Amino acid sequence: MHPAVHISPLTASAPVVSALAQLIIETVAHGGSVSFMHPLAQEEAVAFWENSLQAAARGERIVLGAYDGEVLAGTVTLQLLCPPNQPHRAEIAKLMTAVHYRGRGIARALMLEAEQLAIAHRRTLLTLDTAEEDGAAGLYEGLGFQRSGVIPDYALKPHGGLTGTIIYWKRL
Ligand SMILES: CC(C)(COP(=O)(O)OP(=O)(O)OC[C@H]1O[C@@H](n2cnc3c(N)ncnc32)[C@H](O)[C@@H]1OP(=O)(O)O)[C@@H](O)C(=O)NCCC(=O)NCCS
Repeated sequence: MHPAVHISPLTASAPVVSALAQLIIETVAHGGSVSFMHPLAQEEAVAFWENSLQAAARGERIVLGAYDGEVLAGTVTLQLLCPPNQPHRAEIAKLMTAVHYRGRGIARALMLEAEQLAIAHRRTLLTLDTAEEDGAAGLYEGLGFQRSGVIPDYALKPHGGLTGTIIYWKRL
């Protein structure tokens, strides 16, 4: 990753919410499976990140941002809020790198930082899922995640058509 890129937890402000909204709209437009269909409306994207950052303010999750100067180049969410019988687990969600910044190690750096934060929160198990088509299976396997299996036809791709989801886990 370029040394100028700086990763830190995000807190709610108009510029941060706006940058996150642009990032998820672009990701969905380019076929990224991150829960939404294309075209993702600006208001829906803003509402999603406002809710997410409110949850972060309650300590239920950490939303990391990778900034190149003033530009948000990528993000990942570490979901800490798990059921009472899973206090040792956390979940990875909404990993995305801006199209212009892909292939420079930003997602990998975000994941490594998320893992360190999970350890700091005494989590010993990470779980995640990724789309079978146009997902990031290779990235997660490169980081040592173990593949549990595939649930077929789990979700619609952003431009339509079903895809399976692959479930992954990693012990910390
Ligand atoms: C997947 C995504 C986050 C990768 O971001 P990135 O910053 O380009 O990834 P990196 O440059 O950190 O890549 C790290 C490693 O993973 C590999 N990799 C990256 N994306 C990959 C993919 N989609 N499939 C397989 N391998 C991938 C890279 O080749 C690299 O391997 P290396 O370390 O051996 O060189 C980005 O393509 C994206 O935002 N996609 C759309 C959203 C999405 O699918 N997110 C995952 C949802 S679960």
